[in-house]
Amino acid sequence: MTSIDSTEASAIARSGDTLHVEGVPLTEIAGAVGTPSYVYSGAIIRQQYAKLSNALDGVPHRLHYAMKANSNRAVLQLLKGLGAGIDIVSGGELFRAMAAGYSGADVVFSGVGKTVAELEYALDSAVKLINVESRAELVALNEVARQHGSVAPVALRVNPEVTVNTAHAYISTGEKGHKFGIPHEEVPQLLEFATGLANVRLAGLGMHLGSQINNASPLRDAMPRLFFALAEARRLGHEPQFLDLGGGLSVPYAAHETDADVDDYATLLRTSMQSAGGDLELLLEPGRFLVAESGVLLVKVLYLKHAAGKHFVVTDGAMNDLIRPALYQAWHNIEAVVDAGGELVADVVGPICESSDFFALERRLSRVAAGDLLAVRTTGAYGYAMASNYNSRPRPAEVLVDGSRFAIISERERYEDLMRLETDHLQWRSC
Ligand code: LLP
Repeated sequence: MTSIDSTEASAIARSGDTLHVEGVPLTEIAGAVGTPSYVYSGAIIRQQYAKLSNALDGVPHRLHYAMKANSNRAVLQLLKGLGAGIDIVSGGELFRAMAAGYSGADVVFSGVGKTVAELEYALDSAVKLINVESRAELVALNEVARQHGSVAPVALRVNPEVTVNTAHAYISTGEKGHKFGIPHEEVPQLLEFATGLANVRLAGLGMHLGSQINNASPLRDAMPRLFFALAEARRLGHEPQFLDLGGGLSVPYAAHETDADVDDYATLLRTSMQSAGGDLELLLEPGRFLVAESGVLLVKVLYLKHAAGKHFVVTDGAMNDLIRPALYQAWHNIEAVVDAGGELVADVVGPICESSDFFALERRLSRVAAGDLLAVRTTGAYGYAMASNYNSRPRPAEVLVDGSRFAIISERERYEDLMRLETDHLQWRSC
């Protein structure tokens, strides 16, 4: 069996023939909590946070965790305890962040389509920064802030229009023609326009190039365009305090993938912040890097099936629980929790009525039988967060491991939860 050779291996590893998360055998969690379940290692989240934060030692910075990756309250609280701020993209995320104990001063609000209600909520919460992605949004925010009686701290998100090689086209965002950010050529005009708006204050400039980027090259290519915008902003009398360079640092999913070059990335950030001058604070919005490797999706084999010369391993987990393979053709290592040796090449699939309902195709596994447990690795980011109730499947439980103990941090949904918002008493309205 392949095991990922990274920090992940230290806290999610085999002891004897059984896969453990820290000191807890996954067999134990499956017995107590059932399957499918997401299991996260707190130690790995702490390691990843320290790795990035330490690499930036001496650079004034704050890591604003992109909570879209995993918004469980226990995860948010763990990261808050480490000193993280938070990056949100919706009113719902703001609500969750506040419930986890973050304050407005910890919050950066990103995203291309914020509603008036969300902007009001952000101003009520006195967030640190609102990343604006268009002239129309800037105008709307100025008006919301005027009515609110406040001045909104904004950062313009620059689209530097550089080439970004991400693992899948859907997770690149900093190229020409993308919906994200303000095309860099239009930024000076917008900066000028902003000088005439009384209820927004240009507090920063930002970029986010995409996700699953494993080296500093795209950022290196993009930096001159951000610097041009910075010089322009200063020339116009703005006084930006923050450079928000987004998230996007990759993690290795497959055995042949390498760790993101954090040192190269940090070196670029260090020199960039030095040449930016002033008292600028660097903000980063890492999501995946902090949490992906901490997680496994624990599923049970229901049936082995043989059809048309192929083997299928049918599990109780499905694309509604983890959609990344179906949506991005993403690779996740899959390991038998108890390694029985031998070998089997099979499609690992779920019970959903879609051909895209698979975790892996033609995958080499150790021999498994009905009732065995499988761990789908590197699923701490964009796993549960993207889960749905498709096929009326309750969403899985989430479990956090801390050393030799574990706790449920989100109960498995029950059938009743599926219909929680539906009503038997239809209130017809006439028109
Ligand atoms: N900041 C902004 C403005 C973003 O749009 C994103 C991710 C992040 C930060 C965090 O990116 P990260 O550090 O996690 O790469 N569902 C996809 C990933 C979509 C990412 C969207 N934006 C996946 O499962 O790969």
